[in-house]
Amino acid sequence: MKRVFFALTLLIGLFACSQSNQVNELDSVDVPNFAQHIAPIIANHCVRCHRNGGGAPFELTSYSKVKGKAKTIAKVTSMRIMPPWPADPNYSHFIDENILSQSQIDAISRWVKNDCPEGGSSEKIFANVSSEKSNIGKPDMVLSLDTVLLSEGDIDRFFFSKVNCTVPHGKYIRAIEFIPGQPKLLHHFNGHLINYYGNTKPNLESSPSKIEISPKEGVDNPRETKLAVDFQKSLLNNDGSLPERWHSVVNYLPGVKGVMYPDGIGTYAVAENFSIIGNDVHYGPSRKTLIDNSKINIFFTNTPPKRGTAEIMLGTNGVSKIVPPLVIPANQKTKHVTQFTVSADISVLTINPHLHLLGKSFLAYAIKPNGDTINLIHIPKWNFRWQYFYTFKKMVHIPRGSTIYANAEFDNTVNNPNNPNNPPKQVAERLEYGGSSMRATDEMFQFIITYVGYQPGDEELSLEHGNN
Ligand code: HEC
Repeated sequence: MKRVFFALTLLIGLFACSQSNQVNELDSVDVPNFAQHIAPIIANHCVRCHRNGGGAPFELTSYSKVKGKAKTIAKVTSMRIMPPWPADPNYSHFIDENILSQSQIDAISRWVKNDCPEGGSSEKIFANVSSEKSNIGKPDMVLSLDTVLLSEGDIDRFFFSKVNCTVPHGKYIRAIEFIPGQPKLLHHFNGHLINYYGNTKPNLESSPSKIEISPKEGVDNPRETKLAVDFQKSLLNNDGSLPERWHSVVNYLPGVKGVMYPDGIGTYAVAENFSIIGNDVHYGPSRKTLIDNSKINIFFTNTPPKRGTAEIMLGTNGVSKIVPPLVIPANQKTKHVTQFTVSADISVLTINPHLHLLGKSFLAYAIKPNGDTINLIHIPKWNFRWQYFYTFKKMVHIPRGSTIYANAEFDNTVNNPNNPNNPPKQVAERLEYGGSSMRATDEMFQFIITYVGYQPGDEELSLEHGNN
């Protein structure tokens, strides 16, 4: 484990180093200009969402667009509201960590105070970023999900969707990436892969390509409506048997970039016939009538999966119970913990903390058999809007016999601006919902860990795209 700590120290050291270089450079500029100093910050930290096809409500892809929002930009950056990155960088580090240094924030403020000097053309800086359709590269296959008509209205809408596909024998899926058609409305997509092996085939004709599962009046659990049950039945093989199934081959939330693990890790075997199921495709309320044409980018490899990924889910619906049980009385703040001891050495790739609207903070770590602590994640101020899947820069080795702890705090008082009930009401976990419910009366506490079995040297293997 010493090596992990060494690697971590080195990493933190390098991080501090690159930050301090920037500090010196930017801090010495009295009047920053856009082309030289500000545009690179915007391009690296903002444009992934603030572009045509990104999740944000306006673009920040040119001098005039940024200048038009200059005052608000200075404000939201100095308050650290933008860019959104809830995880505490003093606790642990992840790929695509999106945090501005104090020097960058100060430089933006000075630029705005000095009336936003342009300093030449910045077109080149934005030329590449603004047209990206993939965060990983050129996909080998692009699947189109059935279009969804979103009519004007103030309700959230939930769908199941499905796309069938055939591939030549001998291909494996290396990565899957979801590209929303209406990124401002699409809040969540959780994709599962279903393989149809041998003589079995999906019921292509009888199976709808999407159904709406929004809660309707009088139906307690939308997953139990006839429509939803029929949809799930239609996923069976045509001989009625259950196809092979993985969970969560792709998870999308606004601002989430596709991940591609090193070749051979986290790749999936695919049958010549496979389907991708969109579980709980969640759209926010729409102000106008719109059509969503979302896509799924698939990247193939000829390398068979060497090290399949697996998941441990702590908490709601998971392997460990929540103590005390997740019941949050009105007008109270509560603290809960859930813990799980691993029976083999594992290498953690990605983690996902998940709470609903009453969440206040989240902390997860592992205690090794020798008593040492491995930091996993700290979210001091829970933000319901930004629930990322956090991928470590290098795999984190958790030795056999270590106990993973997840701690969550909830705030069911009027002081929680996200409290769905005013006056507050008791809120509890609803297990039968299978993690799908966004209903205001439900709360959840989950910690999902994606891992592979440990192999010596994992601590040194970079998970950053481009390094493998
Ligand atoms: C992960 C996606 C994402 C990133 C990255 C991001 N934004 Fe945003 N931004 C949003 C969304 C979405 C909104 C709309 C408000 C909301 O949902 O919180 C927004 C809103 C804003 C607003 C309006 C806030 C208001 O109160 O009116 C400003 C200004 C802004 N962003 C600036 C920035 C800047 C500057 C950066 C980079 C330093 C940045 N954003 C990075 C997604 C993002």
